[in-house]
Amino acid sequence: MTTENTIRDSVRESYAARARTFLNPADIIPLTAAEPAACCSAEGACCATSASAAEQGYKAEDVGALPADITEMTLGCGDPLSIAGLQPGQRVLDLGSGAGFDCFLAAKKVGDTGWVIGVDMTPEMLSLAWKNAARTGAHNVEFRYGHIEHLPVEAESIDVVLSNCVINLSPDKPAVFREAFRVLKPGGKFAVSDIVADREIEPAAQANIGSYCECVAGASEESKYLADLSAAGFREVRVTGRVPYADVPGSGAKTWSVKVEALK
Ligand SMILES: C[S@@+](CC[C@H](N)C(=O)[O-])C[C@H]1O[C@@H](n2cnc3c(N)ncnc32)[C@H](O)[C@@H]1O
Repeated sequence: MTTENTIRDSVRESYAARARTFLNPADIIPLTAAEPAACCSAEGACCATSASAAEQGYKAEDVGALPADITEMTLGCGDPLSIAGLQPGQRVLDLGSGAGFDCFLAAKKVGDTGWVIGVDMTPEMLSLAWKNAARTGAHNVEFRYGHIEHLPVEAESIDVVLSNCVINLSPDKPAVFREAFRVLKPGGKFAVSDIVADREIEPAAQANIGSYCECVAGASEESKYLADLSAAGFREVRVTGRVPYADVPGSGAKTWSVKVEALK
């Protein structure tokens, strides 16, 4: 049976494998994590392995200042910063921050008086993000170890929640939305890129863990995703961009990369 822990362990190992290709073993910080289950594929299946930052919609002037390998390491499916409207001085949280790409871009936008927190559950990804932070000299960014379903972030402390191609990987999306709502200040903004499906994906297709780790099989039906955000307390929930992503193996469902915004 595919339990929530099995899914998380497989997702973690998949992204750990990806991060290890950019790390020396000595750079990996030994955080205490649940023992990962078998990897979903030998190489580690991941989202958007071939999409460059430009293909994801980022403007060259925004990404140009970052080292090329950080730009190449983005595993997102869109550009959540394009709908975030970040302002100097804001506190920003990135759910599933990976190697830190969106955090570094956000850090530039919020400036010296702002602060950016990335949260990720994969020690290898956090190790890479911390290494990248040192290389870029970003001094207004931190990365925290945790699950996006139980955020290590205090209530009502964040102006904008970002996320790029991560919530589809969560086996408990309503919990992620409740946590995003909890940590946002009143009036705060939820601005994410993510994958949704045109229908509910059948359990048998969802159990394809390789497809799940590739950000396809775990996608919610779009209307359910939006309803779960509303149920968490968000208002003005809307999709502001939608491009085709991939068909779901073993299902008639299709997925879309969407930009979703909402307000607390
Ligand atoms: C597809 S990658 C996206 C990384 C980053 N947002 C980007 O655009 O490059 C997914 C990331 O989310 C993390 N992740 C997946 N599920 C998570 C969860 N439940 N809690 C915390 N992090 C999670 C993985 O470790 C991985 O770093």
